[in-house]
Amino acid sequence: MMVIQTVAELRAWSRSVRQQHKTVGLVPTMGALHEGHLSLVRAAKASCDAVAVSIFVNPTQFGPNEDFALYPRTFDADCSLLAAEGVNVVFAPAPEEIYRSGAATFVEVEGLSQRLDGASRPGHFRGVATVVAKLFIAAEPDRAFFGQKDAAQIAVLRRMVTDLGLAVELVACPIVREPDGLAMSSRNRYLNSEERQQALVLRRSLQAVETKIASGERSAAALIATAQAVFASIPEVRVDYIAAVNWATLEPVEIALPGTLFAVAAWVGKTRLIDNALVL
Ligand code: PAJ
Repeated sequence: MMVIQTVAELRAWSRSVRQQHKTVGLVPTMGALHEGHLSLVRAAKASCDAVAVSIFVNPTQFGPNEDFALYPRTFDADCSLLAAEGVNVVFAPAPEEIYRSGAATFVEVEGLSQRLDGASRPGHFRGVATVVAKLFIAAEPDRAFFGQKDAAQIAVLRRMVTDLGLAVELVACPIVREPDGLAMSSRNRYLNSEERQQALVLRRSLQAVETKIASGERSAAALIATAQAVFASIPEVRVDYIAAVNWATLEPVEIALPGTLFAVAAWVGKTRLIDNALVL
């Protein structure tokens, strides 16, 4: 496994793979890898000839009062995990390699970027879209793999790829969970044991919604009220949003139909967690 730090070397590697008529898969990450990330790596390995994983804690997607400085950095352990998966390249650039000082160009997906997490984290999706566009330009992947855990992120990136006419196929992979149902996240390691238990309320609220849908309820307002009632049982957890949206546009819907995304975000102590379920 090669560790590459510059855009020029990453591009040269990708072009050499493609010159041999082989496909390149890219898995963008911020490191602190867990089974959720590794599921994307496995999906990439299964459908691409060569796989690059980027590890870059992207400063522009963190707000001024967010956890950029604290964000877990476990580079050596990450590399061991990726080597064991048979990854070809780890791209681990320094911030200066990605962001030239004085850069004036950003990617803003208007509308979508202000919804869900974008509403509570102003500038977050501009940072995500900008860095992912830069990674696509550097790696020129045939396919890029993202987790449905960050469903709004996928919606923003799909729209970016369509609007910019980028020649990359986005692949959405299912949410990987802990045995008790908590969606895996690099931020779960911030939780103390009490908070770790409280955090289960996110998944439980979505399961209650799924049960209601199975019993025939289709009104988004009623389904959101169901989720709210579950959250009310754990008053220590502060809800950020509970939303029923169209997954493509992130606009609220009134009736839950196949393809409707139920998304929740909540503060468990100082940690903000998200989860979601897609109506089938
Ligand atoms: P990060 O949070 O490290 O996540 C990297 C990828 O792993 C994302 O596509 C995310 O959706 C996926 N992922 C995280 N937890 C998952 C889980 N439990 N199951 C399945 N997939 C999971 O998302 C980012 O980094 C950044 O915003 C990034 C796209 C790298 C841009 O900086």
